[in-house]
Amino acid sequence: MAHPTLFITGSSKPLHGSIEVRGAKNDILKGLAASLLVSGKVAYTNIPHIEDVDRTLELLESLGVSVHSDGARKMTVDASHINGHILRRDIAEQMRASIVLAGPVLARKGRVRFPFPGGCVLGKRPIDLFMNGWRAMGARVRMIGDEYEFSARKLKGADITFYKVSVTGTEAMMLTAVLAHGTTVLRNAALEPEIPHLADFLNASGARIVGAGTPTITIEGTGGQLLKGGATFETLPDRIEAGSFAALVAARGGKVKITHCNPEHLAVPIEILREIGVRVTTGKDFMIVERAGKLKPIDIIKTREYPGFPTDLQAPFAIIMTQAHGASLIFETIFEGRMVFIDDLNRMGAYITMCDPHRILVNGPTELQGRRMESPDIRAGLAFVIAAAIAKGHTILEGIYKIDRGYEKIEQRLRRIGVDIGRKKS
Ligand code: UD1
Repeated sequence: MAHPTLFITGSSKPLHGSIEVRGAKNDILKGLAASLLVSGKVAYTNIPHIEDVDRTLELLESLGVSVHSDGARKMTVDASHINGHILRRDIAEQMRASIVLAGPVLARKGRVRFPFPGGCVLGKRPIDLFMNGWRAMGARVRMIGDEYEFSARKLKGADITFYKVSVTGTEAMMLTAVLAHGTTVLRNAALEPEIPHLADFLNASGARIVGAGTPTITIEGTGGQLLKGGATFETLPDRIEAGSFAALVAARGGKVKITHCNPEHLAVPIEILREIGVRVTTGKDFMIVERAGKLKPIDIIKTREYPGFPTDLQAPFAIIMTQAHGASLIFETIFEGRMVFIDDLNRMGAYITMCDPHRILVNGPTELQGRRMESPDIRAGLAFVIAAAIAKGHTILEGIYKIDRGYEKIEQRLRRIGVDIGRKKS
């Protein structure tokens, strides 16, 4: 099989024009899982054309769900009848977010079976929070070979405290609790914008959820009754894609309008850009990023749960700091294996020192040189595209399925703002 590759020729020529942000992977995947709680059709809009959406639809179809495309970026999903309880191993193993389908299937079929969910290798990424939650709601777990099977005749509401904040953990328990018997309280819940968005959609479909977007979420279960539906899930703009585009402009220079985004979801990254000398002006659904002069270093960029600086923007911002005049510390607090990409950057000519597995010191400015590389994961993959776009010479980037998982036809949009980038089939 031919593996597509990105070919990038770097330059210091300022970028210009405007670039559109697509719907967020981390929002639509949970929205699609919510279709399993609804009787009748659910409409979706602003759907990004990305691999993880296609894989999730395949998973849903293998459970008996029907999916109809309603033209570009729109579809309807009907999960009134489902006939399976096993999440397809080949897909679930490759995509961690597949675990959000498990709770709704458990609630509807009384059992669900899935393998240890895979995805980006960012460290251990255990599933103990999910297991604790489902057990607290009355489910029993057994292993069938190396797959998990959870079963419960009746899921009951529970008081669940997460010992650590988890985005997907919060969403998975919220989705499970909607059809449970009785009230569920989630404490130390994550605050990411996708969570209140999912709750608003579920409430508009007939669920009763209070407090999403705060650390305590209360869900009154329907006692097994499917939601009546009637609401449309409009996928949120991808804040990580928007922030990565801003990082590209900051690193290379120029002036670009980033459209179809929500700058409110990027308050901290925008403030960091301003701090290092980038001009950012924002409107309701756009931001203009402009960098003409020198970049200043920053004492620390520390990743944190929302509304803190997102871990998914850590690698793109590390690229910016290779161009700043001085040393900047980046501290990754969410994942333990997310800084491995720096070896490749150093091979490109960056001067980054690893202080410990969680902290790097980026010394700048350094001139980067294009080379052959492989995308390590979705987010660092896009960071490599940014590095290649500011480097001298040519870069060949392999393993770009990992970029296509989360970003739609990235080369087409980047070309429009002046990046010399193309895709080849092999
Ligand atoms: C989600 C996002 C991902 C982002 C991450 C952090 C999706 C599909 N993915 O991932 O893009 O990088 O939030 O913002 O929305 N943990 C446990 N036990 C568990 C679950 C998680 O120890 O059962 C740990 C993780 O290993 C990690 C931390 O909790 O160290 C936070 O991870 P979490 O918020 O769960 O990330 P995801 O939801 O997987």
